[in-house]
Amino acid sequence: MVLELDAARPWSARGHWERMDAATADLDGPFAALSLDALAHNARAMVARAAGTRLRLASKSVRSRSVIEAVLATPGWHGVLAATLPEALWLSQTVDDVLLGYPTVDRTALRALAADERALARVTIMVDSVEQLELIDAVVPGHPEIRVALELDAALEVGPWRAGVLRSPLRSPGELAGLARTVVDRPGFRLVGVMSYEAQIAGVQDGRRRGGSPAFMVRAMQRISSADLRERRAAAVAAVRQLAPLEFVNGGGTGSIEATAADPAVTEIGAGSGLFGAHLFDDYRGFTPAPALAFALPVVRRPGRGIVTLLGGGWVASGPRVVDRDPVVAWPEGLSIHPGEGPGEVQTPVRGPAADRMRLGDRVWLRHAKAGELCERTDLLHLVAGDQVVSTLPTYRGEGRKLL
Ligand SMILES: Cc1ncc(COP(=O)(O)O)c(C=O)c1O
Repeated sequence: MVLELDAARPWSARGHWERMDAATADLDGPFAALSLDALAHNARAMVARAAGTRLRLASKSVRSRSVIEAVLATPGWHGVLAATLPEALWLSQTVDDVLLGYPTVDRTALRALAADERALARVTIMVDSVEQLELIDAVVPGHPEIRVALELDAALEVGPWRAGVLRSPLRSPGELAGLARTVVDRPGFRLVGVMSYEAQIAGVQDGRRRGGSPAFMVRAMQRISSADLRERRAAAVAAVRQLAPLEFVNGGGTGSIEATAADPAVTEIGAGSGLFGAHLFDDYRGFTPAPALAFALPVVRRPGRGIVTLLGGGWVASGPRVVDRDPVVAWPEGLSIHPGEGPGEVQTPVRGPAADRMRLGDRVWLRHAKAGELCERTDLLHLVAGDQVVSTLPTYRGEGRKLL
């Protein structure tokens, strides 16, 4: 079966884990399973949140071509936000609009881009300095016209204090327009877009304490940041539009869809995490993704009362080194990862009242903190519809590839 989101039934949280477990009863863990109904629910919910602004799929948060193509066939979604140039070139074989969201210094891939007419028409690279343009010119002298987007820094800065990720050095409208002028004047490049990613809003839960900051302070930071960015982005985009007719202005991410869609300077939102519903997206106040993707680990031993040990499990997410990067137990209820050992390379003890009811070979379902990274651990996603596995979809890894 080809993955078609139209074939999904309405998703319901009730009985979800029981259905996932029953559908996959014959499979031996560890394995990953994707609920078609929950995925379709998430894809539609994200479109509804965007209220008419189109969504560009952040492929790093999915890492399965079948899933990417199925979501792109859904109204409201258009194009991919890729992470590496090799990935962008590969996806451009089937996707006609691929924005590379991060700068590239990959010489082999740059040569391949310059030699591929279709990719040149479909792929847009990201630039935030003249140095990057010089590198490309040095690698492929006299190259044909390459589509370019510029990144504006979207972080919030108040004096020495900063919230956001360390990406582009271009903060002011003047700085962005300065580089835009350089691109426009430089042979071999065509300026087509602008991007600014407000990670401190899109990737920070507004319903949960973060480090030393209670949730109300997170929300205050996000309100100030939204206002700052709205002003700065509008002025920067207006200045660049004086120099080049932009095809798109990209912003946001899963956690900021509403806020970014409300910014009139933005024409599209890059988002992906909300599709699989990784657990780092559980604590937003405005939306709750369905837990579409999960992995099941078998119980292999019983080290003591109230504890069972699972095979594998150390699939910890990237990012700041805090415990919320660990997977969480989703089902059965009443189990959690043993804090003394954590999710391990070959085994993960879990404890709680449900442990003593479990038998060897029973499965415990876990959710990854970040959606796409799970796909680096498995070749296949078992697609569950209702209480049946209806298909197996290859991940990037299953197609012999990886993101990074
Ligand atoms: C440039 C850019 N846009 C958007 C996103 C949001 O992606 P997601 O919705 O998958 O969290 C990211 C995530 O890191 C990003 O780097």
